[in-house]
Amino acid sequence: MKSVIYYYSKHGTTKKIVDYVEGKLQIVDVFDINTMPENIKTFDDVLLFTPVYAGNIPRKVKMFINENKNDLLDRNLSIFLCGANTKDEQKVIEMNFHETVIKHANFIKYIGGGFDFDKLNFLEKLAVRIIAKQKESKEKIDYELLDSLLKKRLDQQ
Ligand SMILES: Cc1cc2nc3c(=O)[nH]c(=O)nc-3n(C[C@H](O)[C@H](O)[C@H](O)COP(=O)(O)O)c2cc1C
Repeated sequence: MKSVIYYYSKHGTTKKIVDYVEGKLQIVDVFDINTMPENIKTFDDVLLFTPVYAGNIPRKVKMFINENKNDLLDRNLSIFLCGANTKDEQKVIEMNFHETVIKHANFIKYIGGGFDFDKLNFLEKLAVRIIAKQKESKEKIDYELLDSLLKKRLDQQ
């Protein structure tokens, strides 16, 4: 089975998670959705990693899913949400993913995330201070959950 990781990372935390996952999988290619990703048709197992900003996944990730929907629905698909507000998981899923994708995916699951204040612009810092009530860099990634999801995605094939 040939696995592929597609990811989007604005400030680097999602990429950090992807680097961790890459080391755990056997045959894997990794593509940044911002670049020209290779065609999904070459792979059977797709892992998609996306951050959540103000309740939304980035527009580029939405476009990627829409443009490749038929191929994604034809493959083993697992979606990992990177963000701080894991309580809103169900709302974020319903707001951002088409019901066919929700039904087809092995799971769409929050695995945590982080803020690096040095990498945020003024408005982002302000939003994090007001909404998340955070004043400094913080990272909370649930590696235990991540490991169990990596296993689960194969069990559900
Ligand atoms: C301006 C801003 C808004 C955010 N909004 C949300 C949100 O609505 N829900 C959430 O779970 N996380 C939110 N986050 C946290 C990010 O999703 C989290 O930091 C993620 O790890 C960022 O990934 P990246 O470093 O790969 O860009 C927000 C972060 C910023 C800076």
